Amino acid sequence: MTTPTRPATSQRWSSRLSFVLAATAAAVGLGNIWKFPYIMGENGGGAFVLVYLLCIFALGIPVLIGELLIGRRGRNSPGYAARKLAVESGRHWSWQLTGWATMLAGFLILTFYVVIASWAFSYVVKSAQGTFDRPSAELINGIYEQMTASAGEMLLFTALLIFATAVIVGKGFKHGLERSVKWLMPMLLLLLIGIAIYSANVGDLGSALNFIFKPDFSQLTVNSVLIALGHAFFTLSLASGVMIMYGAYLPKKTSIVSTSIWIAVADTLVAIIAGLAIFPLVFGYGLTPGEGPGLIFQTLPLAFATMPGGAFVGTVFFIMLLLAAFTSAISMIESIAAFVVERFAVTRWQAAAGSCVILFTFSLMTIYSFAGAGWAQVDWAFMGKETPTLFHVIDHLTSNIMLPLGGLAVALFTGWAIESRYMREELNTSTKVFRLWRFAVRYVAPVAITLVFLQLIGVLTF
Ligand code: PFF
Ligand code: NA
Repeated sequence: MTTPTRPATSQRWSSRLSFVLAATAAAVGLGNIWKFPYIMGENGGGAFVLVYLLCIFALGIPVLIGELLIGRRGRNSPGYAARKLAVESGRHWSWQLTGWATMLAGFLILTFYVVIASWAFSYVVKSAQGTFDRPSAELINGIYEQMTASAGEMLLFTALLIFATAVIVGKGFKHGLERSVKWLMPMLLLLLIGIAIYSANVGDLGSALNFIFKPDFSQLTVNSVLIALGHAFFTLSLASGVMIMYGAYLPKKTSIVSTSIWIAVADTLVAIIAGLAIFPLVFGYGLTPGEGPGLIFQTLPLAFATMPGGAFVGTVFFIMLLLAAFTSAISMIESIAAFVVERFAVTRWQAAAGSCVILFTFSLMTIYSFAGAGWAQVDWAFMGKETPTLFHVIDHLTSNIMLPLGGLAVALFTGWAIESRYMREELNTSTKVFRLWRFAVRYVAPVAITLVFLQLIGVLTF
């Protein structure tokens, strides 16, 4: 492997606000609005939320800080950045795998992410056309099933979405990424808060608050803890290359500690507000919260079908979901394209287009997992699923295995492998904060992740 000759990372965020916006846009996505509410529903609400918050603060923020450090100190895309730091600190070359593995995880996530986003896209069109205006569970399940069984529909909307992503990323760092998040993020927040206020008025806010904030520990299992841990990484886009890449664009003087806290708090708030937008409707219209991945695609439309102005609110809801997913997809393609530009003699447009073609090809695995082509079925028993598919495998492999392991690698890399002196310089904070961070990445994160893991593979039982 030769050293990159043209680092794409000579770019810098034009302001601290612009960085925080872009990183928040990367973090906020389907994870907050689709996944968090349904895993909260499946794992019993309040107690799960508490464990999740603990994971965000004890593991998520320290690892986020670590990734931004690797990026800024390495000033390259994740693989090269990690290699540079390993070499600088006189460590074994294999430490660079930390960087490469995160890029692989991010890419794999994106292959199914864009397909779920295509459902949101399709639902924008459907609800605007009034498809959901009859309150019949059967009808709405039918629409969902018909969509997920139709390869053509998913292919179309996935392709459109990937194309839009390629256009933004192709335009370049300043004109594409920075400019688009400056508009899209505030819009997304406005829509989300609007829907939450509306839903507090027409739905059952009391039950929702109870569900989200009143912990019932009897519902909590060790598996829930693993899910909370994996989701803390997923939701902050950690261990997927994105944050290392964004760190590479960070000006020297920006404080990594305070911006990391901002990003994590913003992402968490969006997830909670999404819960406050969704659960009052779920309870208010007599639906159940534990419906799994179908929660916002099958359960919620039933509420939209019944409530006053539902077609409009529903359309707005799915536009918001689509925006959130779109900005996350942009962030991921950004880091892949930056790597391609760095490594090969191509323009940014070519890099963006090439990455998107490859992404589309791999997204077929998920599309046909749903649309039911035989090759996307796997024939080994998997996670207690009746008909496991490649989608289940990729989802489980990334969220529950690659992300925790990637987070562990980042923690060990920044905590033990890289010279402390470099980290100290990059963090540029008080000794107390530095020690606290180092304690988290050296001990707390590795021990917590390892324990949950040993339990997962059955070595430990509690
Ligand atoms: N952070 C995103 C979300 O919460 O929706 C998910 C994600 C996107 C993770 C892209 C990783 C990634 F590379
Ligand atoms: Na998120």
